[in-house]
Amino acid sequence: MHCIIKSPAKINLHLRVLDKRPDGYHNLESIFAALDFSDTLKAELTPVKGAFELNVDYNFPQSTPVRPISVEKNLITKAVDLFKKKTGFNEGIKIHLEKKIPIGSGLGGGSSNAASALLAMNLLSSANLGLPELPEMALVLGSDVPFFLKGGAAYVSGRGESIEYIAPPSGSWVLLIKPPFSVNTAAAFANLDAYRQKIMQPNDHAPSKKALINALLDDPGNWPYYNDFLPVFPKRQIAVYKEILKSLKEAGASFAGLSGSGSCCFGLFPSEKDVKDARISIKTTLLASKIHLYFCECTFFLAENANLVLEL
Ligand code: C5P
Repeated sequence: MHCIIKSPAKINLHLRVLDKRPDGYHNLESIFAALDFSDTLKAELTPVKGAFELNVDYNFPQSTPVRPISVEKNLITKAVDLFKKKTGFNEGIKIHLEKKIPIGSGLGGGSSNAASALLAMNLLSSANLGLPELPEMALVLGSDVPFFLKGGAAYVSGRGESIEYIAPPSGSWVLLIKPPFSVNTAAAFANLDAYRQKIMQPNDHAPSKKALINALLDDPGNWPYYNDFLPVFPKRQIAVYKEILKSLKEAGASFAGLSGSGSCCFGLFPSEKDVKDARISIKTTLLASKIHLYFCECTFFLAENANLVLEL
């Protein structure tokens, strides 16, 4: 018995970081949107009880050296272990991951893979867990993992566990642009804390929850969204982000932003032709400015009710 699960990337259209909590995490207010750009996870039962095997095919751009994550540290392994511990399910499991979503990009690849592993275990074990068990398990694995149990877009708050799914923006194509450097999420939050202590200025430009949700129905050119991480990076990185965001706007993006704590930027375009034309022109513009890219990828938003189970 086997199943194949689509493990999508996400972008944060909006990301406001609020207070630091006693548990060390920060409260957030964010608009998450899942993308068609995805990894693919295949899980199958094997005959030896308790056995676990994980193989990852890194399908990254050829110029990129791959630094594989060890099986023990991979969130997929942690998800399988947690599921087994919570349910007592102990059949042999073999997982194969086709990995396209870059690591340290703010696209949520690792979190998405963890959610896919939980969905796969739920199907293969016939445990049929739902609310609240699956999201609770997901949160143990990481703040962004609960969101990835479904496709679509969501207003996300708390540490990441409070999720209100909403219809994703319609009629937009997305261009993802990642510079060669990657970002460690914990370090980015620490930088943000240090930045705020230094300048002693909370971000008081905060649209209401209603305004954030309603904006999704509006033209992206009118969105009130921003990302609190943008000003806190080292100057060299901020300069790169500014160039990328400028080139996206110049190529016709109706909205451009940074996803998560970086380093992937995104721009929204009204049609497939526009996004493909922009991809070509931006590569040339950025190369002329001596900004090298890790990748430049066209995609679109995943529907609210998208089926993540590709095969069972
Ligand atoms: O939850 P996750 O393991 O993905 O978080 C990685 C790190 O990012 C945490 O250890 C924490 O330092 C930071 N973080 C945070 N507040 C959040 C999410 C993550 O401070 N809401």
